[in-house]
Amino acid sequence: MAGVKLVGIWKQFGEVTAVKDMNLHIKDGEFMILLGPSGCGKTTTLRMIAGLEEPTKGQIYVGDKLVADPKGGVFVPPKDRDIAMVFQSYALYPHMTVYDNIAFPLKLRKIRKEEIDQRVREVAGMLGLTELLRRKPRELSGGQRQRVALGRAIIRKPQVFLMDEPLSNLDAKLRVKMRAELKKLQRQLGVTTIYVTHDQVEAMTMGDRIAIINHGELQQVGTPEDVYDRPANMFVGGFIGSPPMNFLDATATEDGFLDFGEFRLKLLPDQVTVLREQGLLGGDVVFGIRPEDVYDAMFAQVKVPGENMTTVRIEIIENLGGEKITHLRAGNLTLLAKFPAESRVRENTDVDIVFDMKKAHIFNKKTQTAVF
Ligand SMILES: Nc1ncnc2c1ncn2[C@@H]1O[C@H](COP(=O)(O)OP(=O)(O)OP(=O)(O)O)[C@@H](O)[C@H]1O
Ligand SMILES: [Mg+2]
Repeated sequence: MAGVKLVGIWKQFGEVTAVKDMNLHIKDGEFMILLGPSGCGKTTTLRMIAGLEEPTKGQIYVGDKLVADPKGGVFVPPKDRDIAMVFQSYALYPHMTVYDNIAFPLKLRKIRKEEIDQRVREVAGMLGLTELLRRKPRELSGGQRQRVALGRAIIRKPQVFLMDEPLSNLDAKLRVKMRAELKKLQRQLGVTTIYVTHDQVEAMTMGDRIAIINHGELQQVGTPEDVYDRPANMFVGGFIGSPPMNFLDATATEDGFLDFGEFRLKLLPDQVTVLREQGLLGGDVVFGIRPEDVYDAMFAQVKVPGENMTTVRIEIIENLGGEKITHLRAGNLTLLAKFPAESRVRENTDVDIVFDMKKAHIFNKKTQTAVF
């Protein structure tokens, strides 16, 4: 087993900068997620770690071993990196049985037949494929095929797994099941895993840590709790969480309020202190609040009229059974709130809402970075 370290990695494709000064240390045995929108450089990063792509600049280490360093003329080819990769489209050999598909990497290495047999059965047992070993890929469901592809990757006992959206071809229900199975398998094997996805729910549920990337640039690395509760900037705040965080432009006033024009919210003393320190009192900021931190006043525990409460119009209610996603408007401002199922709100009526200021995020409007 080994960790993976990226030091100042750049990747240029002609004019396109796919990866920009990436510094990332994935610990031994860790399940690291690379998360970001389409085209942000996830696959490129993974391919550089695998050795399928050479960085333009920077160093990559697998364990203590330097595997890529263009400046020093170092480039270890994929087959010598002891890394296994599982792609979105897992090409199984259609003419081979499940058994032979899984055994293939070991046969290539000329490992003894008895040992191959023992390891295939061990891996098949782990993945619930024992009954299917004699079938051909076309006789399997999508999820079973995906497990065969995983089996083929893990049988080599590599130091590192790289997975590029391996579940994206599966239907929603199977994806949820495979997520949990994959996570369990990774724990069991303890192999350092770098997993690419653009699905934030997958990232939050599977990762020990998440690295969030936008336009080739690392935005934040942290545990799911870190990135959810303490987003470093507006991109991270808006990318993680569903429905997404509300962003409202405001002025931070000298007397300690956020002024939205339509209404004002009283800042907490700590928030005032930080805003003052950063010279933002009297200036433009962006207020970020998650839909679940906006309450229907009827159900809110703290109510300080006029301080963290206002009246808004209900435009649309999406009833999801367990909760109500409510679209609210105050003048030109719109925001989403997640109300409990018991909430008796109705469309085209007014409602008093309470903001949980302890959960509020405040961003510098110019730099878009989190102030609080
Ligand atoms: N071989 C290539 N030649 C030129 N440009 C490339 C090449 N590979 C990737 N790119 C560009 O680099 C950027 C990053 O691509 P990459 O495939 O890493 O994105 P991604 O995050 O994996 O996206 P997705 O979620 O859509 O798979 C994109 O702008 C892409 O067009
Ligand atoms: Mg990709």
